[in-house]
Amino acid sequence: MAKIVLITGATRGIGYALAEKYVADGALVLVGTRDLDRGLEAVDALRENGGQARLLQIDLLDHGSVMQAAQWVGQQFGHLDLLINNAGVFDDHDVSASHEDAESLRQTFDVNVLGTYLVTQQMLPWLQAAEEGMVISMSDQLATFSDFAAERPTTGLGQRLSRMSVNAMTVLFQNEITDVQFRAVTPGYIASSPARQGGQPVGVAVDLIQQIADHTAADWDGKLIGTDGIVPF
Ligand SMILES: NC(=O)c1ccc[n+]([C@@H]2O[C@H](COP(=O)([O-])OP(=O)(O)OC[C@H]3O[C@@H](n4cnc5c(N)ncnc54)[C@H](OP(=O)(O)O)[C@@H]3O)[C@@H](O)[C@H]2O)c1
Repeated sequence: MAKIVLITGATRGIGYALAEKYVADGALVLVGTRDLDRGLEAVDALRENGGQARLLQIDLLDHGSVMQAAQWVGQQFGHLDLLINNAGVFDDHDVSASHEDAESLRQTFDVNVLGTYLVTQQMLPWLQAAEEGMVISMSDQLATFSDFAAERPTTGLGQRLSRMSVNAMTVLFQNEITDVQFRAVTPGYIASSPARQGGQPVGVAVDLIQQIADHTAADWDGKLIGTDGIVPF
């Protein structure tokens, strides 16, 4: 049976590139999207060469949609092999720490922290029902104390704090749940859209995430992983 892979935010950027790669490798990809039209477009494109893709509406700000999605996964498949918590927002890359907008900060936490938490929590029974269930959650090099200590601009407080929460969540889930593997990933700066000039190609993030998924040895469990392996945070 094909590996079942759920990718949140899979209609563009790294999420879509991951969906393309997993479909090409023969997996059944559940294309997580908050927007049905964009989701259908992505699913059609992914199926063009005979690949397997299904639409799954998940808006991380709409908890009902997460509950429904989890119910659907259980009814349709009864298990989930891989959850990639890719959906997220990073709206404060040019805002210094003392100038954050409270509403924007709250939105970042709602998506990156609460949304990621809820998807993981609700998909957990199906991940546990898989032979080797795994969760890979997007984080960031910026979410490490060594990066805070470095002489850098003090921008991106929302991204940093929210991704530190993702790192912490990864550890705490792993400490509690022994039959699912939890990892966080820092892909580096990725040129996932034309606006992100000077970044690494999207393929770098895709290869890293696949490497993490294929590395089933326990030494990466509960860890933040980058292209050079475990990143202390
Ligand atoms: N690119 C980088 O250098 C980099 C580095 C470190 C971490 N990351 C993280 O890696 C992930 C993917 O990066 P990317 O560059 O591909 O990001 P992106 O191009 O900004 O795409 C983000 C994805 O998340 C989805 N999303 C946003 N809010 C959502 C919500 N409330 N519910 C469901 N989906 C939502 C978006 O959906 P819509 O299409 O509907 O907007 C989009 O599909 C993000 O979480 C990003 O923060 C990226």
